[in-house]
Amino acid sequence: MPQLSGEELTAQRKRLEDVCTIYKSPLLSTSLLLISPLFQIQHKIRHPDTFLPPSDYRHQSILDPVIPKDIYSPSRMDVLGMLLKIRMRPNPTYDLGVVDDRAALVVCNNEVPDAPIIYATESFEILTGYYGSEIIGKNCRFLQNPPNPRSPPWDVVEKCRKYNEPLLSELRHRIQRKEEAQVKIVNYHKDGTPFMNILTVIPIRYEDDDGVERDYIVGFQVNEKDITPSLG
Ligand SMILES: Cc1cc2nc3c(=O)[nH]c(=O)nc-3n(C[C@H](O)[C@H](O)[C@H](O)COP(=O)(O)O)c2cc1C
Repeated sequence: MPQLSGEELTAQRKRLEDVCTIYKSPLLSTSLLLISPLFQIQHKIRHPDTFLPPSDYRHQSILDPVIPKDIYSPSRMDVLGMLLKIRMRPNPTYDLGVVDDRAALVVCNNEVPDAPIIYATESFEILTGYYGSEIIGKNCRFLQNPPNPRSPPWDVVEKCRKYNEPLLSELRHRIQRKEEAQVKIVNYHKDGTPFMNILTVIPIRYEDDDGVERDYIVGFQVNEKDITPSLG
């Protein structure tokens, strides 16, 4: 345990009090009721101006002697912050309901040609069968083709390709226009089996670690099979 000076202890105590105040904030309880406490606190720390913070969090999060910046984000991606931004976006085209970082999702960098994946959640890996290390840097379209040795029969693949064609064209245009999109397309797991992917893409502007606003797109994947039973 590091030894803290009296001043540092006072600072820590003040942070704890502030966190408690955030929990009690009526603003948070009405607008963010469905978002987890961790979500709320993290957003509060990173965006102190958004929800009228009780104190100066921007400086506290940088100077904190005990908790170094990004210790809880090995990927250095503020995924919870992005999800919050998506949740609070004005005029959403699609209602995603409540989303947390256990959803299957990827973040793509739309400032780089062909919008490569820069982040994928564990649920995305489980859904598709691909490890993050295999797909970072790739465009998501790799999911539209079965891996070579495990491909289903040629006519099945061709039928799926034809089904996908108009939907992908619509998706491509919407992405180019920086619009939200939702399509149901055939994708393939790494083992070659096809699945119906209900894909929603949401473009966001997001301020990176270095303070620069970037053009990202977050893509949410759901296997239709996983929701059909719940629809009765
Ligand atoms: C954030 C994001 C997530 C995407 N996720 C998928 C996906 O899960 N499956 C898929 O088949 N395509 C996905 N796409 C779509 C493809 O990357 C690509 O945009 C689409 O195939 C149309 O472009 P193309 O005609 O150049 O291939 C995603 C795109 C973005 C931007």
